[in-house]
Amino acid sequence: MMDIIKTAGHNGAFLAPLAGISDLPFRLIARSLGCSLAYTEMISANGLIRKTAKTYEYLKTCADDRPLGAQIFGADPEIMAEAARIVADHGVDLIDINMGCPVRKVIKAGAGAILMKDPDRIARIVDAVKRAVKIPVTVKIRSGWTRGSINAVEIARIVEDCGADAITVHARTADQGYSGHADWRIIAGVKKALKIQVIGNGDIRQPQDAVRMLQETSCDAVMVGRGSLGNPWIFKGISQALGGQTVNYLPELNQRLKMIENHWKMEVEFLGGKLAGKNFRKQILWYTKGLDNSHRFRELAGKLKDEDGILNELHEYFRLLNEDTK
Ligand SMILES: Cc1cc2nc3c(=O)[nH]c(=O)nc-3n(C[C@H](O)[C@H](O)[C@H](O)COP(=O)(O)O)c2cc1C
Repeated sequence: MMDIIKTAGHNGAFLAPLAGISDLPFRLIARSLGCSLAYTEMISANGLIRKTAKTYEYLKTCADDRPLGAQIFGADPEIMAEAARIVADHGVDLIDINMGCPVRKVIKAGAGAILMKDPDRIARIVDAVKRAVKIPVTVKIRSGWTRGSINAVEIARIVEDCGADAITVHARTADQGYSGHADWRIIAGVKKALKIQVIGNGDIRQPQDAVRMLQETSCDAVMVGRGSLGNPWIFKGISQALGGQTVNYLPELNQRLKMIENHWKMEVEFLGGKLAGKNFRKQILWYTKGLDNSHRFRELAGKLKDEDGILNELHEYFRLLNEDTK
């Protein structure tokens, strides 16, 4: 385990578990650009046990999709342990336990970030999952439940004492959701208090942010979430920055268009045309964010119903962009 995190941490950055986004196609794209470890999106332990077909889709992987962490969420230690066994049987490299999701449906079920308020349950979950599987177990936490009750160090110590192999700290409180700034001092505090490896997460938007997080917190590896949306090239930039090379990672216009098309094709193969079409619109919007005169195209893409129509508009938009740069 140590080796997976350590080796991966030295070679690049990790792709965060991202619901609706970090599926097999996106993980493969991120890996092709230097991401050194990736996670599935969070998978319901109850769903795994009930053998819900959709839940098992999240576990689809392939030989190039390595090393892979599968993230599970739930509140009941025994159900989490059983879910961990199922996931381990699918041949993933490590299991990550979600203790950071602030979504109402998840916390209402006693899972995700609300666990930050229940150290005793955290201990029972980590202990049960550790006993259930031979592969490494990691835990992903937040800084705390609210800004008035920051307890990342206390929780991290419990997680370590229960045998977890590494911990990821998303340095925001649950009540912050995804807004405001991540407070990297929380990551530094956890790193100082623990012997196991610490993965830092929150607000890596540029390659240099990864270097800064490593320097400022002494964490062992960094994890990128939203900074990779429409920008899988960030992993290339981080690898360059970590390797002391000149950071030059953003693609040319044609490479960007090619990536969008390639990503789209992979999603169609993975999800089937109908679902891929529904899911991919947001990707197109991310891939074109910040490009010159993208406003009209993005507005149109948001309205068009059929995917062929969007792709035609995309080509037309890139044709105009290319003309402008001539
Ligand atoms: C759309 C979206 C989906 C997410 N899904 C998950 C998830 O399934 N499991 C999880 O632990 N965190 C999830 N997160 C949180 C991210 O993994 C990450 O901790 C957070 O975005 C902070 O990192 P960032 O500032 O680099 O985005 C999600 C975040 C977003 C924006």
